[in-house]
Amino acid sequence: ESPENKKVYEVLEQVAEFYHSKLREDRKALDYLRDRGIDSSTIKKFHLGYSSSSEELTQLLKDLNALEIYARTGNVIQIDEGKYRDLFRNRLIIPIRDSRGRVVGFGGRLISGEGPKYINSPESDIFKKRELLYGFYEGLNYLRELKSALLVEGYFDVIALHQEGLRNAVATLGTSLGKEHASLLSRVVEKVYLLFDGDEAGRKAMRLAIPHLLKEGLEVYPVFLPEGLDPHDFILKEGKTALKEVIESSPDIFGLLREKIVKGYDVESSVKDFTYYVSFMKDEIKAYTLLSELSKLTRIPIEVLSAKMYRTPERSQ
Ligand code: UTP
Ligand code: MN
Ligand code: MN
Ligand code: MN
Ligand code: MN
Repeated sequence: ESPENKKVYEVLEQVAEFYHSKLREDRKALDYLRDRGIDSSTIKKFHLGYSSSSEELTQLLKDLNALEIYARTGNVIQIDEGKYRDLFRNRLIIPIRDSRGRVVGFGGRLISGEGPKYINSPESDIFKKRELLYGFYEGLNYLRELKSALLVEGYFDVIALHQEGLRNAVATLGTSLGKEHASLLSRVVEKVYLLFDGDEAGRKAMRLAIPHLLKEGLEVYPVFLPEGLDPHDFILKEGKTALKEVIESSPDIFGLLREKIVKGYDVESSVKDFTYYVSFMKDEIKAYTLLSELSKLTRIPIEVLSAKMYRTPERSQ
């Protein structure tokens, strides 16, 4: 780690503290969190903050003698000689930590006015969205203990689930799940529950995430939420017990497809999906066992199933 990066990490930590202290002074942001059901211990745990003033942030950075070095992260933008604008101004701040607990960047949620709902720190050598999972550090002990992760799409899903005691929730930073995320998860857990938003985008993201997880040898449990709801919405509407029940009653991906085949729902596409997902499995013996079961169930010879599997074009994904 270069001395320059060390300084950047220190400054990011201070900026996170600064935003966190500013939240206490901002009625609008506090009301926003209260209305979303987020309590003060959760605010502390995740060090949520608010960006109210580019000038005060600039002053802090000057005091730390770190204006230039911090500007290189892209979190503040120089607009004039000695004048900087906070990229996150007027946004609720979600500090993002790497797996070692260092603040590496921020997510910022719009709470009033115009603009994109969320923005994130720009990519840099210390902020790589491909390698980061929100909630991973905060939930590390639980991930290790439970050996399972609840993978969700959004920051507030992670925050709300942790608050309700589901402290193994993690999320990508608005990007699709890739092999680096899967590899990070495989270092600490065996099972991954997919709790994506109950909409077309969520279901599509789920299909794309599964191969990466299977390649890392993880067991995958898709959990389907009611149309239009994400995990945070679901908790607010139905409560945490209901969410736990949905999670606990969800079979793993192969169990789910097997069930559909047995019941005669979408048999053809379920058989295809089954062989498609099996093709990504890390453990060849487990893969073969699953295919033999499928063969018995469908009376399709295993040679035919595996030929189909290797012909699936998406295998190269
Ligand atoms: P969603 O659109 O599902 O938002 O995006 P959300 O997390 O439920 O937002 P809330 O509950 O209204 O606050 C899921 C995730 O995609 C990223 C964010 O990481 C968000 O949490 N995203 C979304 C962006 O990066 N930019 C956006 O404009 C929207
Ligand atoms: Mn602190
Ligand atoms: Mn969504
Ligand atoms: Mn949401
Ligand atoms: Mn959502």
